[in-house]
Amino acid sequence: MEEERLIAGGLRSEDIELETSLRPRSLREYYGQSKVKESLSIYINAALRRHDALDHMLLYGPPGLGKTCLAGIVAAEMGQNIRITSGPAIDRAGDLASILVKLEPGDILFIDEIHRLSHAVEEVLYSAMEDFEIDLMTGKGPTARSMRIALPKFTLVGATTRAGMLSAPLRDRFGIIFRLEMYSPEELCQIVSRSAHLLNVKAEPDGMLEIARRSRGTPRIANRMLKRVRDYAQVKGNGCITEEIAREGLDMLDVDQLGLDRVDRTLLLTMMDKFGGGPVGLDTLAASTGEDANTIEDVYEPYLLQLGFIQRTPRGRVCTPLVYEHMGRVKPESLAAEEDKDENE
Ligand SMILES: Nc1ncnc2c1ncn2[C@@H]1O[C@H](COP(=O)(O)OP(=O)(O)OP(=O)(O)O)[C@@H](O)[C@H]1O
Ligand SMILES: [Mg+2]
Repeated sequence: MEEERLIAGGLRSEDIELETSLRPRSLREYYGQSKVKESLSIYINAALRRHDALDHMLLYGPPGLGKTCLAGIVAAEMGQNIRITSGPAIDRAGDLASILVKLEPGDILFIDEIHRLSHAVEEVLYSAMEDFEIDLMTGKGPTARSMRIALPKFTLVGATTRAGMLSAPLRDRFGIIFRLEMYSPEELCQIVSRSAHLLNVKAEPDGMLEIARRSRGTPRIANRMLKRVRDYAQVKGNGCITEEIAREGLDMLDVDQLGLDRVDRTLLLTMMDKFGGGPVGLDTLAASTGEDANTIEDVYEPYLLQLGFIQRTPRGRVCTPLVYEHMGRVKPESLAAEEDKDENE
């Protein structure tokens, strides 16, 4: 579905191509996240002066905010190579060991979706991160023995959309922890402007701001919208993205003024109409809307939370009065009182 790709999608080859071509390569080209950038450039400078590796670094925040980008930038700024893998790709402890023993001094090891490492793999990571050594088991049964292998000093960069799912021992081994925030429309506008330039698209400032406003604080979505609106401008206009063209193009994609798409609206309507505004558990909400629970939690919910449209309570998700206002509804007080769905998170 069209809108799925705009907000929740991600793995189609043309999307990957777009992201690769628009990926900033240096901190200077990485817009927004000023607090993160300020601290990071100090840490990088200090490590470079000491001729030392950077501390292990954990990046967390919703999808599309620039975690993978930042990992690449750290490697570039440190002048080191980056090895890229992900939690689900590392099945067994041995898989991780073989990645670790191939590292060169100063290398950046990037593990995406680090919350999905199995416990056995995590255990190997503890000593690798802390002491730069691992214990390898060789042989089986009575001939099995453990062999200690020293590793070069490297930097682990972990990324996750779910910091809460990381075990405490793992989290504690990161010296640097950054939470990426959603971007302001002004910051997104800078990103859209850079992308428009790289893609050779003509766009007026008001047109870019309209895209920025509707891209739910997320650079990935802003870039995708830019590409769609460019197509619209070519067919319906003279190729230039004006405010009007941006508005029409995004309306056609069913993205409203706040950046909510059909899935967001279905979620909110379901909460209001079927559950009296909540509380409703995530799994119940997923089942009633036909959406995947993880996608709701990772992709849709962060922005609805940020807008103050929903709240998470121990008994489930609740709509706030802002939703009723945005959707032009009146909250039925009598219904709200009798709703008592006892759902687990
Ligand atoms: N600060 C930024 N400045 C400019 N462009 C950015 C910035 N952050 C992200 N982008 C753009 O958004 C795209 C998505 O970013 P990235 O892949 O790093 O997100 P992510 O946080 O790793 O997402 P996921 O959680 O899905 O892996 C990038 O390809 C890049 O074009
Ligand atoms: Mg990523």
